Amino acid sequence: MAERPAIAFVKLEAPKAGTVVLLTDKSLKLGPVAAGLDEQSGGAFGRIARAAKFEGGAMKSVQQLAPGGGELDRVVHVGLGEPEKLRQADWLKLGGVAAAAAGGNGELTLVLERADGEAVTPDQAASVALGAAMRSYAFDKYKTKKKPDEPQGPRRIAVAVSDPRAAARAWGELEPVLEGITFARDLVNEPPNVLGPVEFAERLEGLREFGVEVEVLDEKAIRKQKMGALAGVAQGSVRPPRVVVMRWNGGKGKEKPVAFVGKGVVFDTGGISIKPAAGMEDMKGDMAGAAAVAGAMRAVAGRKAKANVVGIVGLVENMPDGNAQRPGDIVTSMSGQTIEVINTDAEGRLVLADVLTYLQREAQPQAIVDLATLTGAIIVALGHHYAGMFANNDELAAALDKAGRDTGEGVWRMPLGAEYDKLIDSKVADMKNTGGRWASSVTAAQFIARFIENETPWAHLDVAGTAMGSPATDVNQSWGSGYGVRLLDELVRSTYERRKD
Ligand code: BES
Ligand code: MN
Ligand code: ZN
Repeated sequence: MAERPAIAFVKLEAPKAGTVVLLTDKSLKLGPVAAGLDEQSGGAFGRIARAAKFEGGAMKSVQQLAPGGGELDRVVHVGLGEPEKLRQADWLKLGGVAAAAAGGNGELTLVLERADGEAVTPDQAASVALGAAMRSYAFDKYKTKKKPDEPQGPRRIAVAVSDPRAAARAWGELEPVLEGITFARDLVNEPPNVLGPVEFAERLEGLREFGVEVEVLDEKAIRKQKMGALAGVAQGSVRPPRVVVMRWNGGKGKEKPVAFVGKGVVFDTGGISIKPAAGMEDMKGDMAGAAAVAGAMRAVAGRKAKANVVGIVGLVENMPDGNAQRPGDIVTSMSGQTIEVINTDAEGRLVLADVLTYLQREAQPQAIVDLATLTGAIIVALGHHYAGMFANNDELAAALDKAGRDTGEGVWRMPLGAEYDKLIDSKVADMKNTGGRWASSVTAAQFIARFIENETPWAHLDVAGTAMGSPATDVNQSWGSGYGVRLLDELVRSTYERRKD
């Protein structure tokens, strides 16, 4: 893994060496520290801005290499546009933009000073640090040779703010979120030979170190619970399944937990309904929902969230062998409902069904959010920018929508309804596991809805387009984005956490 940069919060002053990031806005004014530095390089900023047509727009940047009058490698001017308009997610992006600019000796100083005289708040400074650290992640543990001319990213990041102590305190709340994101990204990026269901479960046991209670159901326990839908998916693989329950009890004793549920198909060949060869390697990421749940548990536990949170993941491998389930099989889920398996490649919903039943029996959650790389169709609909959200409850949907806007991990609500539900009725069992070609992300969600009991508020996030195969962004350059960790953590903060008074 690329060395994680060390992060420190320091007083507002100009560094002597390395890369320095300075802020400006649409006025193209500079704050006192930035103006001092600009003076040293002969007041070049105005000319540079003109030459580069830099207008101080939000997250736009312009660089000056080896500026005169000191040992600096470069000065990067980043625009804030209209600073009052920036959300937390924008400050995060700013950190990403800044980290990308670091070069030279790997020392990066971010001078968080607004040109209009307003202070950058501690929360904003912490978000900048988080964005810079997220951007600096690389999954390179299997590369035995490093190219000397490859950019190494910052080794040390100094964030200069007017109140470094307050910013460091805010960072104390966000650093565990970074740990959670890194944990999730590593799980998603790991190759499928290394990360089977057993190995995944072992990594989750590591969460005990942070005060998370971890319970692992092995194949015997899974059989005993009569999880016939999940077991049917697993039976074609020589690697046995696992179900892992993670509990963070930071809230009041009797408060019902909020529950996060993750699809953890460590590799999805499609089974007997086998997938085409091209791109199949991407199906190592079919456990990204489970990874996000694991990362969120790590985040809430690491920052000792004052809420009861339970995470549960179903870990299986979907393989075709002589013992694999067939199209036409009828399996009995833990809920007692029977399922006709039309397509063995619609396996995620089979896994989620049993995990949801176990969760509701064991933990009586007050609300449920599941994350699953469930359908290719959600990528057709929404691309890589929003997860599809299906919800039986407007309040929960609104809370997730807001958390999405605040974190930049967006969700876009999709419909549910009786017309769609009809499409998964089966002639021979209670339901079938596919609903035909049309609206297949919706029929997948309808299938899951049939396993939600007592109208418990529930949201299903189809993260096939957002949590794996991720396009490079300002805050992520790796294949697994860690999508969902910040979203779930923010949902806990905004909705389920007791006020810290
Ligand atoms: N894991 C896939 C969905 C997927 C596709 C995730 C592409 C990420 C990228 C899922 O198990 C699957 O195969 N879904 C089928 C459902 C169909 C058989 C009803 C699909 O999307 O084609
Ligand atoms: Mn599949
Ligand atoms: Zn799948």
